Amino acid sequence: MKTDGAPSTSPPPPGLVANWETLQRIFIRPENEAARAVLLKYMEQILFGLHDFLKQHLGITQEASLKDLADRFTDSRIGEHPVRKLADVINGLIEEVAPHAVNVASPYFVGHMTSAIPFYMVHLATIVAALNQNPVKLETSKVVSVLERQVLAKIHRVVYGFDGGFYHRHIQKPESTLGGFVEDGTLANMTALWVARNTLLGAKPGFDGVEKEGMAAALAAHGILRCVVLVSRLGHYSLRKSAGVLGIGNRNVIPVPVDAGQRLDINALEETLRTLKRDEPGTRILAVVGVAGTTETGTVDPLEAMAGICEREKIHFHVDAAWGGPTLLSGTYRHLLKGIERADSATIDGHKQFYMPMSCGMVYFKNPTHMDAAAYHARYINRPGSVDLGIRSLVGSRAAASLVLGSALDIMGSRGYALLIDHGIELARSFAGEIMKRPLFQLVTPPCLNILTYRLLPEGTEADTETANRINKTVQRLQREAGRSFVSRTTLSLPETGETVVLRVVLMNPFTTIGILREILDEQETLYRREIAGRP
Ligand SMILES: Cc1ncc(COP(=O)(O)O)c(C=O)c1O
Repeated sequence: MKTDGAPSTSPPPPGLVANWETLQRIFIRPENEAARAVLLKYMEQILFGLHDFLKQHLGITQEASLKDLADRFTDSRIGEHPVRKLADVINGLIEEVAPHAVNVASPYFVGHMTSAIPFYMVHLATIVAALNQNPVKLETSKVVSVLERQVLAKIHRVVYGFDGGFYHRHIQKPESTLGGFVEDGTLANMTALWVARNTLLGAKPGFDGVEKEGMAAALAAHGILRCVVLVSRLGHYSLRKSAGVLGIGNRNVIPVPVDAGQRLDINALEETLRTLKRDEPGTRILAVVGVAGTTETGTVDPLEAMAGICEREKIHFHVDAAWGGPTLLSGTYRHLLKGIERADSATIDGHKQFYMPMSCGMVYFKNPTHMDAAAYHARYINRPGSVDLGIRSLVGSRAAASLVLGSALDIMGSRGYALLIDHGIELARSFAGEIMKRPLFQLVTPPCLNILTYRLLPEGTEADTETANRINKTVQRLQREAGRSFVSRTTLSLPETGETVVLRVVLMNPFTTIGILREILDEQETLYRREIAGRP
């Protein structure tokens, strides 16, 4: 096998060559008015053409097997000379790649938390790329850093609702951290557990804290054997990943049973706490996590009751509102998240229900000095006393996502977001009603927010989970392969039916209607009758 990383040396296509002159053209600015006009034309195609393309292309993706697609991308060597001009690259992306990507903007794509975004998001993201600011430090972001603090304060206020005086004091105070932007919900959850860990296993006489001395020394210094995190069985796997990275051990994320409504069972939480106290005096609870919008069922844990327990037991209370956070902007449904304002920290994703393009996660702290437990300084930036946002952040260099979110909040207003949230929740309720009307289907988890699960349950399979599971897996796959619409599937552990395969629908696209959802059920029904029931 050849192992050299040398570029492929086929001769350059006519007119394409990498030299200092061509570099100037692509790197610095268009060389003249004609080139500028060409670039503008392509920019227009990207800003509007792609959007039009997606609008027309109502299916989910063009038919092509993954194997065929993979066969097109097997060249592991970088060409020494340019292979295509910018114009051809852009055309190629629009005409050859986009049709085989997934049209997540389709109102028939209702299976995941990735969906349509308002078209202006593309413009805002372009500005972010063009400015290329790096908010890790003031020297590469200046006004963007202070603007970011304002955006963080606005969302913090939605979550925690302190008075104006509080925000006036902390909004631009370099020593205060109301929250931070990271790449995604995973890193936001990790940040919260990182801070909780460093606070629990902090410095004491003779010990400099876990961040400096590591987990083994920390456990010894604090006289404990292990730390655990408690979260409902439906907690997102990013919490286990975080526990692995932080040296807590992902086995020590203890799943707490859920009640019939798929919400963390508060009695089970109390029981777990009692058992740990009684049987394992060497175990400390690092955090209890409440989920506001579980990934699989969209349910919200009893945050208020969980907050009460955490306050009583002096345990860090984190709320993973990666999905459900923006529900707080809805006057009608905000109450579903009651108790989040008592959380020590909260995760909210921008690329979920703030309808931002990939990717943006955020973590918020009730106490503006809590993140000091994870502050870092370097000699070349983030020096002590500086106002660099990178001092208290899990990530280093990153895009200025706050420019996008801050602008989107101005464009939409909280009412704009509330309309989207209300639409999703109300549509989910209508859809649940539709499912219940149809004899072939069973509603498995009714919607709390805008996610629900259901399954096909043909007559005679009620007591036969294995057969029902097989049917649902097959119908979901056939529908995905047909490429007109998409719902996802997951497996829930249910008391009556055990490991149960369910179809999962996430309703956030404002163009998804009850009519479209009926069509999706019709298609599933047809697939079942034709491909499963109709076969010998
Ligand atoms: C409840 C919840 N938390 C965290 C995450 C992780 O978010 P991300 O995929 O942005 O890392 C998700 C993702 O679906 C989620 O649903």
